[in-house]
Amino acid sequence: MFEHVKEYAGDPILGLKDKFVADTKADKVNLGVGVYYDEDGKLPVLECVQTAEQRIANPISPRPYLPMAGFAGHRKGCQELLFGKDAQVLQEGRVATIATIGGSGALRVGAEFIHEWFPQSKCYVSDPTWGNHIAIFEHSDVEVGKYPYYDKATNSVKFDEMVSFLQTLNKHDVVLLHPCCHNPTGMDLSKEQWDKVLEVIQKHELIPFMDIAYQGFGEDMESDVYAIRKAVDMGLTLFVSNSFSKNLSLYGERVGGLSVVCPTAKEADIVFGQLTFTARRIYSSPPSHGGRIVDIVMNDEKLHEQWVGEVYAMRDRIKAMRLKLKSVLEAKVPNRDFDYLTRQNGMFSFTGLTPEQVERLQTEFGVYMISNSRMCVAGLNVNNIDYVANAMAEVLKEDA
Ligand code: LMR
Repeated sequence: MFEHVKEYAGDPILGLKDKFVADTKADKVNLGVGVYYDEDGKLPVLECVQTAEQRIANPISPRPYLPMAGFAGHRKGCQELLFGKDAQVLQEGRVATIATIGGSGALRVGAEFIHEWFPQSKCYVSDPTWGNHIAIFEHSDVEVGKYPYYDKATNSVKFDEMVSFLQTLNKHDVVLLHPCCHNPTGMDLSKEQWDKVLEVIQKHELIPFMDIAYQGFGEDMESDVYAIRKAVDMGLTLFVSNSFSKNLSLYGERVGGLSVVCPTAKEADIVFGQLTFTARRIYSSPPSHGGRIVDIVMNDEKLHEQWVGEVYAMRDRIKAMRLKLKSVLEAKVPNRDFDYLTRQNGMFSFTGLTPEQVERLQTEFGVYMISNSRMCVAGLNVNNIDYVANAMAEVLKEDA
């Protein structure tokens, strides 16, 4: 019956965890998946989330089906975070938002919508991008292309090439962008560069699809959505997928949102209906627990403020790890430039290690990063950073 079914090679990010768990080395360190661990190497439960959980548990309430679009408070939370509490575009009713199963669910529903209503459109992703971007769009039968983004030689964005390439795209092609904390490189566009990219998008009538999974981990909550708000100010029509996995540390709850900014409130209503229909055809309606937490934390002023502080504490710890790693590596491998470590934002650093060096780190030292050389800086802490830096120095030295 299943002889024709092909074997699944496994996921380069999520599959690495199994290898890590099976590794018996005492000093092993997981810098693979994009997950924030605290100073003790533990996955935190944010205090604002703990308060929300207590409210949910007392009293324990019945669990009806949610609306296909999820809780209204979850949707409002996404909208205000992305577009601003008093944003005109929200008052005008021009944003169609549904709660989704994580950021991945938002991408999937968005990709299905593009496939159905813009069947001629191709989707262009940065080279490189998060591998699942390509898989999700292709699985929805949207053809995927790549635009130039990262220059390994200089550890910076190939900005001129990127802009020239975007100018060659066809009307209504989709451009998938990371508003902050680019995954996997950590290298973001400056505000001036965003202005230029959006100008090209407007001129060529392209559709921006902004995927934001790390709001608050870059500069701050507001600066990290600069590109989204600028696009709205310019009157662009755009898609935004957002995730609460990282900034609420709710990975397993799968909470996110998909927002489509439309030219008119009438179109937003119609788009909203189609988004709910798409959700209905894939998973019917979202689960309630994570959505309830989002609703409580985002819509309670005090908890929201506490949450922002907790996100900034995570952001600052990651930045401190970047500085520390840079200084240790500079001392150990003086002939190599590690400046990129502090120029990158968010959880990730593209280290420029070869696949062989990444493999050696794994087999000899039990230090796990993605084979494309992406390291999750949020997995470093004061107890493991010297060990990781030593291991990196070893594999880099032999190569020098
Ligand atoms: C990552 O990039 O490591 C995370 O977004 C987790 C994932 O699903 O790949």
